[in-house]
Amino acid sequence: MSAELAIIGGTGLTSMEGLAIVRREMIKTPYGSPSGPMIFGELDGHAVTFLARHGHKHSIPPHRINYRANIWALHSVGIRRVVAVGAVGGIAPECTTGAIVVPNQIIDYSHSREGTFFDGKPHDVHHIDFSFPYDEQLRAALLAAGKVANIDTLDGGVYGVTQGPRLETAAEIRRMSADGCTIVGMTAMPEASLARELDISYASCAVVVNPAAGVGNKSIDPAQLQAAIPTGMEKARTLIAAALPSLAAS
Ligand code: HPA
Repeated sequence: MSAELAIIGGTGLTSMEGLAIVRREMIKTPYGSPSGPMIFGELDGHAVTFLARHGHKHSIPPHRINYRANIWALHSVGIRRVVAVGAVGGIAPECTTGAIVVPNQIIDYSHSREGTFFDGKPHDVHHIDFSFPYDEQLRAALLAAGKVANIDTLDGGVYGVTQGPRLETAAEIRRMSADGCTIVGMTAMPEASLARELDISYASCAVVVNPAAGVGNKSIDPAQLQAAIPTGMEKARTLIAAALPSLAAS
């Protein structure tokens, strides 16, 4: 595999265990600073670049992430494939705490985020095709790795992206469920569409850390949510490590 692969780590994945770090570099972009330095390294003999979406101290909330700088910086160092890891709430019955979902669709409810590189001069007006937001080859690589590593993964799901940082109301989740969302998180957009704008293949490993608001007529228990993060992220890490050889070939 070439150095073209990057992992964007979310909540609970601010570093990539096992990554032998070769170099760190803070990249300047026309859009400002990314969330942190690009970490260049090797994982099981494969070149991988890592970026912590919320910063290394997890200090940048979802609505304040400079998504444009992150994606621009990754592209500028030659990244052409991204596997994005993120914590989500489960809406559909099969999306229980601990499940790993490899979504295939997105509904974007976020707002007020800088969401495009094509915002007038010096770029032309440009409308990307975003019918299928996730890259099928990367998705297939993750799903196949799940089988090899014996990690249950859910093939497909609709990721509803909310603005945050607050969690949703039960009525919002009911509406999202009626819309077809199966999971809810705060970071897939505009990350996924910015990647598409720069021709970066993008897939997501969504780790369910709580039942979404009102599911089972219950509130979200923040302590239970926090407790589910380390185990869920460990699973995601194992899955990605197992997927590395096939991510190389995709
Ligand atoms: N909603 C939105 N984002 C989240 C959730 C949730 O329930 N859990 C983890 N990230």
